[in-house]
Amino acid sequence: MTALSFAIEEHPAPLAANARAEKLVSPGFGRVFTDHMVSIRYTEGEGWHDAKVTARVPLMLDPATAVLHYAQEIFEGLKAYRTPEGGAALFRPEMNARRFADSATRLAMAPLPEELFLESCRRLVSIDRDWIPESEGGSLYLRPFMIASEAFLGVKPSSEYLYLCIASSVGAYFKGGPTSVTLWISDEFTRSAPGGTGAAKCGGNYAASLQAQAEAIREGCDQVVFLDAVERRWIEELGGMNTFFVFDDGTLQTPPLGGTILPGVTRDSLLTLAADQGMTVREEPYAIDQWEADARSGRLREAFACGTAAVVTPIGRVRGRDRDFTIGNGGPGLLTEQLRTQLTDIQRCTAPDPHGWVERV
Ligand code: COI
Repeated sequence: MTALSFAIEEHPAPLAANARAEKLVSPGFGRVFTDHMVSIRYTEGEGWHDAKVTARVPLMLDPATAVLHYAQEIFEGLKAYRTPEGGAALFRPEMNARRFADSATRLAMAPLPEELFLESCRRLVSIDRDWIPESEGGSLYLRPFMIASEAFLGVKPSSEYLYLCIASSVGAYFKGGPTSVTLWISDEFTRSAPGGTGAAKCGGNYAASLQAQAEAIREGCDQVVFLDAVERRWIEELGGMNTFFVFDDGTLQTPPLGGTILPGVTRDSLLTLAADQGMTVREEPYAIDQWEADARSGRLREAFACGTAAVVTPIGRVRGRDRDFTIGNGGPGLLTEQLRTQLTDIQRCTAPDPHGWVERV
C-alpha cells in the first residue's frame, strides 16, 4: 500500500521565474500558491489509488458531493523551510501524518496511510522547491486535506475520498510579524465541547470559530480566545493556535489536551525545548480569573500563542466584555523570544537538531 507509485505530470506552463520572484517578495499568508498539487483517491473496496502530482487546477465536483453538505473534511498544516545550503527541510511531518489519520478516524473517514501522507509532502516540496521564499520568516506552507467525495445525500460516512496536498508561499501569519497581539475573550461562543471534534483538525471547528473571531476583529482585537464549554472558565485555545503562560518563577504552563484542544506540533515542540533547558512545564488548566489576577499582580510575566502558521506570537493584552488587562509591558517577553528563536533555528537548520525533528527533502 505505502509503495503506491506517484504519476508525475509536470505543469505544462509553470509561472516564469521573474513572476514567481515578484510574488515571493512579500507573500503574506495563504494567497500565493505554487504550480503543482498532489492528489490521491480512495474508493471503498479498492482502497487508495491514483496517486498523482499534477498542475494545480480547480476541482470539478458534483453538486451532491458529500463534503458540500455534511462537512466531512479534515486538513493539516506544515511548513517546508529553506536550509542555509539552499535545500528544503520539513519539520516533524510524521506528527502531522499521525494527526491526519486520527482526524480521519474521528470524522469516520478512511485514514490515509501515514507513509503516503509523508510521500505526498516530499513530492510536492521537491517539485515546487523554488517557491520557498528566501526572505526572513518565509516558508512553504503545505496544506494536505481530504474531502468526502461520494455524490450522495444520505447522512453516512462517504464511500469515496479525495486527498489533496497544495502549497502556499508564506510570510508571517499576523500582519506586522511577531509583534504582540490582543485577544478577545468570547463569552458567548465556545469552540468545542467534551465528546466533540475539538482535537480533530476538521474544517467545521474553524467554521464554528469564525463568528467569535469576527466579533474579536469588530472589538479591535487580533484573535479570539475560547473558554471551555462546560464551566466557561478555563482557557482552551485561540481560533487556530495553542496558548502558553510564563510565570515569574520561570515555569511554563499550557492547557492540557483533553479532547477539546488541538494537539499542536508547535505546542509539543515547545514543551520539549523548555523541558530540555530544565524549565518546569505544566500541562494544567488555567482559569480566566486567575489569568487576570496573575497579570495584574505581575506573577504572570509573559503569554504567547503558538501554531504552525503563527509560530510563536506574543500576547500583549486581553480584553472582554468586563475585562481589560496587559501582560508584562504589553510587548514580546524574553522567554517568548528565546523559545521562538530556538524553534525556528532548528526548523531552518541553523542550529543542531537534538531530537531529529527535521527531514531534509
Ligand atoms: C496552522 O497553524 O497550520 C493552522 O492550521 C491554523 C490556521 C489558523 C492557519
